[in-house]
Amino acid sequence: MRRQVRVAWKNEPMSSLPSQLTERVQTVTGIDPEMRPATKPQFGHFQSNVALRLAKTEGKPPREVAAAIVEKLDLGDLCEPLEIAGPGFINFRIKADVLASTASELLADEHAGIAQVANPQRVVIDYSAPNAAKQMHVGHLRSTIIGDCFNRVLSAQGNTVIPQNHIGDWGRQFGMLVEQTLDEGLDLDSLDLAGAEALYMRANAHLKSDEAFATRSRDRVVKLQAGDPETLAKWEKLIAISKAGFERTYERLGVLLRPKDYAGESMYNNMLPAVCEDLEARGIAKVDQGALAVFVDGYEAPAIMRNSQGGYGYDVTDVAALRYRVGELHANRLIYVVGSEQTHHFKLIFGVCRKAGYLPDEVRAEHVGYGMVLGTDGKKFSTREGTAVHLDDLLDEAEQQAATNIALAAIKYADLSSGLQKDYTFDAERMTATTGDTGPYLQYAHARICQIMRKAEAEQVEVPDTITTLDEPAEQQLALLLSRFGEVVADVAETLQPHKLCGYLYELAGAYSTFYEQCPVMKSEGEVRASRLALCSATRKVLAKGLYLLGMDAPERM
Ligand code: ARG
Repeated sequence: MRRQVRVAWKNEPMSSLPSQLTERVQTVTGIDPEMRPATKPQFGHFQSNVALRLAKTEGKPPREVAAAIVEKLDLGDLCEPLEIAGPGFINFRIKADVLASTASELLADEHAGIAQVANPQRVVIDYSAPNAAKQMHVGHLRSTIIGDCFNRVLSAQGNTVIPQNHIGDWGRQFGMLVEQTLDEGLDLDSLDLAGAEALYMRANAHLKSDEAFATRSRDRVVKLQAGDPETLAKWEKLIAISKAGFERTYERLGVLLRPKDYAGESMYNNMLPAVCEDLEARGIAKVDQGALAVFVDGYEAPAIMRNSQGGYGYDVTDVAALRYRVGELHANRLIYVVGSEQTHHFKLIFGVCRKAGYLPDEVRAEHVGYGMVLGTDGKKFSTREGTAVHLDDLLDEAEQQAATNIALAAIKYADLSSGLQKDYTFDAERMTATTGDTGPYLQYAHARICQIMRKAEAEQVEVPDTITTLDEPAEQQLALLLSRFGEVVADVAETLQPHKLCGYLYELAGAYSTFYEQCPVMKSEGEVRASRLALCSATRKVLAKGLYLLGMDAPERM
C-alpha cells in the first residue's frame, strides 16, 4: 500500500520530511524542536531535546513534559509511535512507507525534487569578466566557476537567469595597445590572446620608458572615444582576439557562458554622459575637486562619476550597468561574482544606485566575493617561473592525475566546496583523489551506481520506478537524505553558498556507500531487489543532478 505523503502544491517549495516534522512539532511545543539527526539507529531518525528545554522553564520533570508533548502530537501519518528516551529526549522514526513514497516521488519528478518557484525571478549574474588583451587569471576562473554554479542552481528553480560577462574591453590601455601595434607594424590578424598579452606587456614597458609614446597613447584614447575608424578597427580586432581566447577557456571549462552574454564595459560608454547628467541634475552627484562625485553615507571617499579631466572610469560604468540591468533587463535580483578585493567598490556602487533610485528596494543586489587560490607552499598560486597561472596550467597539472572531465570536477569542487571567502590550496593530487571530500569521489559514486544498472540490464532485471520496501536502517538513511535534496538546492539559491550542496552530496555519496556495503542489491531477490534497484536509481538521479548543478560531469564509468 502506498501512503499519501503531504505533497506541497505545485509551485510552492516542497518541504522535506525533516521540515514537515519540525513544523508540526512546533505547533505543539511553541518553540523550535531543533530536530537533530539521531546518532544511533536505535534512536530512530531524529531526536529532539525540546522537552528538556521546556522542563527548565516550566519547572517540571523533563520526562513528564515529554510525555505530555507526545500525548498531544498526532504524527501517525508520518512517524512510528514516538519514544521517550533517557532524561526526556523524544525520538522520531519516519515510517518506512512514507520514506519509500517520498523517494518514489522524487524518482518520478522531472526536477528530482527541486521545487519550481512560484514567482520566477529575472536574475542577472555578473561573472567571469576577464580583461581584453590579457589571459584570464585564477581569480577570473573562480568567478567563472562560481557564477556558473549560481546560474545552474537558479535556473533549475525556474528563474530566468541572464548572465552578463562584464569584460574589461574599454579604457585607457587601448590607446597604448593601438599605438604599439602601429609602431611595430604588427598584423593583428596573426595574433592570438597570448600574443595580445605579449603586446600588452611591450606596450606597457614602452609607455613607462618613452614620454612621446605616452603622449601619443593618450591622443589615441581620444581618437578611440571620438570613433576614429582606423582606431576603432584596431580596437575591434583586439576585442575579437580576446573573445576567441575566452571562448576557448569557456569551452574547456564546460560552462554555460555564451558569446551572447558579453556585456563589456564598452557597451555602457554612450550611456555615461546621460547618467552623469541625471545624477547631477537631481543633486545626487556634485562636483568635488573638479570631479563629479557621489557621496554615500558611511563611506569616506565618494564614487567618481567623471574625473577632473572629463574621463569616465570603472565606478560610473558599473552605475550605468546596474541601471541598465534593472531598467532594461528588468532584473529582480543582481548577483556580482567578483573577488573579495572589490567588496568596497560594490558596496559603494549599490549605495549610489539606491540613492539614485536606479536600484529600488525590492531589487536585491549581492556581491559574492571569494578568496585566493594558494599553492601547496601556502603562497599565492603561480607558475614555476613565478608568473600568474592560467587555466591551461591548472588543467594540465590536474590532468597529469586524472582524465579531463575528472580533473575539471576536481578543480570545480575545490572552488565550491569550502566557504567561498576562504583561500584554498591547489593540490592536484589531493583534489583528484576518488576518496575523501573531492569532486571525483562524487563522480565515482555515480559511476558505481551506473555499474549496478548495467549489471541489472545484463541480467535482464528490470529497474522499477517505485521504492516499496525500506526495512534496513541504511536504506532508510539513504531515502531520508534523498528527500532533503530540494531543500538544499533552495538554500543554495537563497544564500549563494555552494558548499552546502557539496556537503550534502558528499553525505549522500557516503550514505550510498554504507547502503551498498550493508544491503546487497543484485544478490537479493524479488521485491527487495526491485526496491533497492529503484533506490539506486533515485540516488543516481540526485547525484547526477547535483553534479550538474556544480558544473561537473556525471560519468557512467570511471
Ligand atoms: N574586469 C574586472 C576585473 O578583472 C571585473 C569586473 C567585474 N564586474 C563588474 N561589473 N565590475 O577586475
